[in-house]
Amino acid sequence: MDTLTLIRPDDWHLHLRDDDALRAVVGASARQFARAIVMPNLKPPVTTVAHAQAYRARILDALAPAVAADPLCAGFEPLMTLYLTDRTAPDEIKRARDSGFVHAVKLYPAGATTNSDAGVTSIAAVRPALEAMQASGLPLLIHGEVTDAHIDVFDREAVFIETVLEPMRRDFPDLRIVFEHITTKEAAQYVAQASGPIAATITAHHLLYERNALFKGGMRPHWYCLPILKRETHRRALLEAATSGSPRFFLGTDSAPHAKDLKEHACGCAGCYTAPHALELYAAAFESVGRLDRLEGFASLHGPDFYRLPRNTSRVTLRRQSWTVPDSLPFGAERIVPLASGEALAWRLSS
Ligand code: DOR
Ligand code: ZN
Repeated sequence: MDTLTLIRPDDWHLHLRDDDALRAVVGASARQFARAIVMPNLKPPVTTVAHAQAYRARILDALAPAVAADPLCAGFEPLMTLYLTDRTAPDEIKRARDSGFVHAVKLYPAGATTNSDAGVTSIAAVRPALEAMQASGLPLLIHGEVTDAHIDVFDREAVFIETVLEPMRRDFPDLRIVFEHITTKEAAQYVAQASGPIAATITAHHLLYERNALFKGGMRPHWYCLPILKRETHRRALLEAATSGSPRFFLGTDSAPHAKDLKEHACGCAGCYTAPHALELYAAAFESVGRLDRLEGFASLHGPDFYRLPRNTSRVTLRRQSWTVPDSLPFGAERIVPLASGEALAWRLSS
């Protein structure tokens, strides 16, 4: 098989940033995806529908030159999210539901990751907002890691399931939840087996790499993201979940651009930049277990079904054609290093 044609996929978890960074990266996602759920962890965060509306307009403005340069970028739709805080009012949730352009609310435990300082300090603090979300059907997207410094960084997701997620779901059984960028077999099993409306996104990097990638021949900051890469047993469990055909698992790149200098740093930023070659990376992961036939469900069908949005109707084609991921790309006045730079990939999105 030398070509692979899919219904045009969507990215259900994406960081687009703002200003010069936004202008540098938005075209890469628009080339590959019809829609993307856009993360709200800007500085300051996107906490209101009015902020989300203004951010959406900035994204569409930044997109215009990309569309002029490459027609494949046309029609990209940013699906906006709100950043949940201890002060999010139930009325804001209702406004979000009625807006038509806010599609979810993101829960960052305070201190869990990049720009999460304004995040949630306890589930008790956000009860009124969660009640409003449960009533209105607006999905809650969860960064599922505990933040306690005494919990090992490799255990934070598994501990979160037991101590936060499971009790929360008992209290809010009808709350629609996406467990974001899952990284462990515990999370994959939990989502596959739980009763009620829960799904999970999985990144390409967590399907392709295990934690030794961080230390191969030296420190590899471009493989550092949160939640951090786990052991090989977890990677295999994620691959099994993604390729199982279960509608609970779908594509979310978590492409998280940071300038080269801030990644290759004494205290490097978390995040892997995968937007330019996301589908090619996912194709490599699915092909590694002989399941390219399941890529379309994961990339193009399960996400819109969970979000209750129409499936896309246009198509994209990948061709079997070896190419090398560039060493770096322009990023405003700086450079950015895409994940797996310098490595060969077997599939390439056709123009
Ligand atoms: O690695 C990550 N980078 N994980 C996150 O949760 C946030 C993201 C970012 O915004 O850079
Ligand atoms: Zn993210």
